[in-house]
Amino acid sequence: LKLLSTGRDLEGKKVLVTAGPTREAIDPVRFITNHSSGKMGYAIAERAAARGAEVLLVSGPTNLPTPKGVRRLDIHTTNEMYRMVMENYEDADIIIKSAAVADYRPETVAENKIKKGDSDFAIQLTRNPDILKKLGEMKRVGQVLVGFAAETQDIIENAKGKVDRKNLDFIVANDLTKDGAGFKGDTNIVTIIDKSGNIQHYEKMDKRDLADIILDKAKTIYSKE
Ligand code: CTP
Ligand code: CA
Repeated sequence: LKLLSTGRDLEGKKVLVTAGPTREAIDPVRFITNHSSGKMGYAIAERAAARGAEVLLVSGPTNLPTPKGVRRLDIHTTNEMYRMVMENYEDADIIIKSAAVADYRPETVAENKIKKGDSDFAIQLTRNPDILKKLGEMKRVGQVLVGFAAETQDIIENAKGKVDRKNLDFIVANDLTKDGAGFKGDTNIVTIIDKSGNIQHYEKMDKRDLADIILDKAKTIYSKE
């Protein structure tokens, strides 16, 4: 167990965090989303601000209060998150993408509520931009880029692939099949994999303690570059 760091060791650093789910409208009353509560990202934003960083939180819809000292920008769709991140990533020292982004959106959004009929009904989905991949392509020297991976199988292999494909410094992989891990609760069980291939497993812990571990690792990488 790790005690919450109390020092303002991130003073002068700019941290960009994304959190929560995104929502993709089908019609004016329905949407596609996921189970993300936003708790992990909000914990990171809270701890980064408490440690002295200037924090911008780009958030999908959540029921969480804005952490103290954090500037929060609300979005709904993946495209909105993409635009908001693109407008704000450049001078960030550390970028942590904990949002559970919808990979697809309905190709068209019906203007009026879709009425049911007697036959089956299909929704054509189209790919959303991969925000983190784009950030990896634009990454400047000295910028630390952290991703999350939500997996239900082949966790290490899948997460490693994401580190390479998205040019990340490290990834925080959640095993969604484990009790006490993932979207909903106040705890998480993760494995952190960095770009050098180091793999570190962590026991179940409070999301705020994990937030500090993630910030510690990001800070170490930042200081080395
Ligand atoms: N991510 C993103 N934009 C997307 C999809 C994902 O920025 N359109 C980010 C997430 O915020 C997360 C990381 O990429 O930090 C990994 O997300 P995940 O869903 O686990 O991976 P994907 O690359 O989308 O692959 P898949 O869902 O097929 O496993
Ligand atoms: Ca995905």
